[in-house]
Order: sequence, then structure tokens, then C-alpha cells
Amino acid sequence: MIKIAVLGYGTVGSGVVKVLNTNANIIAKRAGQEVGVKYVLDLRDFPEDPVQSKIVHDFNVILDDPEISIVVETMGGTKPAYEFVKKALLSGKSVCTSNKELVAAYGAELVHIAKSKSVNFLFEASVGGGIPVIRPLNQSLTADRIEQINGILNGTTNYILTKMAQDGSDFDSVLREAQELGYAEKDPTADVEGYDACRKIAILTSLAYGQQVDYEDIYTEGITKITAEDIRYAKSIGAAIKIFGTSKKIGGKLYAMVAPQMIRSDNPLYAVNDVFNAICVTGNMLGDVMFYGKGAGKEATASAVVSDVVDAVKHMNINVMTIWEDEKMPVAPMDEMKNRFFVRISESERGKAETEFEEIEALDGVVDGEFGFITGIMTEREFNDTIAGFDSFVTRIRVGF
Ligand code: HSE
Repeated sequence: MIKIAVLGYGTVGSGVVKVLNTNANIIAKRAGQEVGVKYVLDLRDFPEDPVQSKIVHDFNVILDDPEISIVVETMGGTKPAYEFVKKALLSGKSVCTSNKELVAAYGAELVHIAKSKSVNFLFEASVGGGIPVIRPLNQSLTADRIEQINGILNGTTNYILTKMAQDGSDFDSVLREAQELGYAEKDPTADVEGYDACRKIAILTSLAYGQQVDYEDIYTEGITKITAEDIRYAKSIGAAIKIFGTSKKIGGKLYAMVAPQMIRSDNPLYAVNDVFNAICVTGNMLGDVMFYGKGAGKEATASAVVSDVVDAVKHMNINVMTIWEDEKMPVAPMDEMKNRFFVRISESERGKAETEFEEIEALDGVVDGEFGFITGIMTEREFNDTIAGFDSFVTRIRVGF
């Protein structure tokens, strides 16, 4: 039997124990041997839970136990997760984690340590919850040059935008409702400001190109400024507004951003609603391939973590190569990125807009006294310079078609 330790008995950690118990037989068959939890590390005790007999409060108990060959890290954050994971790998234990903060910040280093110790550092659950996307990127899409990754990478914001579109409600009231239903955190900043999606697109992009892409270099804009009126404009042309993590290689340069975008119904990501996530990867030979499923939640995320445990058992003492060099891959300045923009200004400046922006598509009759339009493709700098000359500018949203 393979004995594992779980660090953190929160939502995902308790889910891992549940998945291993519920599906013990099928997991044993697929892994080639039984997988049992020997320790669960947590600061707390759980006297009402059968897990209590496995609870330890000192990480060294796990580190010093040669019977533990796999450590599951579901604590979140980087402190003390980074220290624990690094020590586990250096002592020859494989690590499976759901922790995107850890992977985005230290992925290259931890992958390298795992390789040097002939163990594995696996992180399927760090992006897209239960959706298999890391393993496909590493093991399946290996014949292609990846041209673009475009993903709905955050369940909370997708739920909020879906509800705003369905009910015509504003951001604040839907956020409150999502918090009451437990879909949004009490402190929703990381989700609604796009920081969570930023770490996820940084991880996917690093894997796609085998180099370190720093999440701090990725332009990130959340959904807090999206209004019910913006969504009415989108609906008037059969479009939706969703927040995407996007990266693309054009002419040898990498462009990346997290930002709300308007997309039309012919985009396969248009129908991705509620807390679901989806990631569309474009390869130069394969074309588009899409991964869809539950991007969060206890069982779904734990399922992805346990799939990594099975992989680690099947590859005991054999590193499943992940190419992630720590050499930094520069992200092109946001000013140089080309986009189309949906813009709202006062009706009084319509004539000026028609002169100064090329190829305007007007969205008439949505908000009284306003002129809404979509620009042609232009760089962010060109857009910012042009719109600066307008006194009545209300908002702009990038357009993904
Ligand atoms: N807060 C995240 C989300 C959880 O809403 O998608 C999964 O990373």
C-alpha cells in the first residue's frame, strides 16, 4: 500500500480524503496498488471526524516518515506551503498540489527539484479545478506549437457575470447574493479583481512555452466596473461579457492579459455559464481544442488532486517530465497589444467618434443619450491616445471577435 499525507484539511483536503475513501477500489486498480492516508496535517483538531486519528500538527512527523512517499498539499497560499513542499521534494517524496499561488510563484523551481530527485511535482488541480488541462498540455498537446490559450478560469466571476446577464442586476447585488450562497468568498478581491485568473493563465502559459511567465507581468483587469448597461449593450448584438485569461504568441512576442471581453454566440466559450470554467487552446496543427468542466468545488478539485496521486504512484521514482525552465519569458507591453474595443460615450460626441475611430460598428438604441460602438482593431496605445480626446467617455470593454 502507498501511504500518503495530506497537508491541510480544508475544502480540498477533506475532499481528497473523501475521494480516496469513496473510490478506493477503482483508484487501487488504476494506481496498481492501494492508496491510504496515513497523516493529515492541520492546526485544528476534528474530534467528530474519523480523520482525527490521522491528524498531526507537526510537519516534521510527515517529513521524517520514510513510509510517506507522496504528499498532497491543499493548504493554499505560499507560507508555509512553499517550505513544506520544497522540503518534501528534497527528501524524495512526490508532491501533488491544488495550490495555484504556490505553482505560479515557484513552479519552475519545484519542477526542477522534483526532476533532480526523480520524483514528481504535479499540479493538475491548480488550474480549472477538476478539468484536466495541465496533463493534456504536458502529455497530449506535445506535437503542436501553442498559438493561443483563452480561458474562463474563475468560477466566481463567471457566476456573477452569468447572473447579471440573466437578471439584469448590477454587480454589487449579485456579488452579495453569491456571497450568501457561498459561491463567492467573504473577501472576493482575488476573484473579482482577476488575480486568481492571472495566476492560472500564468501557469498555463509557462507550461505551453516551457518557460517562466511571471504573473506580475500580466495586465489584469477585474469585473467590478462591469454594469447592467454594459450587458444590455452586449445583448443587443447577441453577445455576452465574460472575463478571460488570454495569452497568445504573435510574431515571436507573447501577449497576455486577464480582462472582461465581449464575445458573440458563435464563440464556443459563449455557452460556458455559472461556476463552470473552460479553456480553449489553439495549436498550429491541431487547431482549437476545448476543456470544460467544474473549475472549483470540493469533490471536483479533489478528483484532480487524486488523479495526480494515481499518476505519482504509477511513476514512483520516475520523473514525468514537465518542461518549465526558470528562464523568464517576457510579456510584451500591454500598449502594443491589438484589440477591438466596445466604447460608450455621450451621443453628443458621436460625430467625433465616427471621424476619429475607423470601421465603427454602432450599437444604437440601448441607453438614452449615449453612443455605444465597437472600434476596428487597434493597439491599446492607439485606443488610449484617441479616447483621451473625448470628454464624455463612460467605459470600454475589449471585444473578442
Ligand atoms: N475562487 C476560485 C474560483 C476557486 O472561483 O474559480 C478555484 O480556483
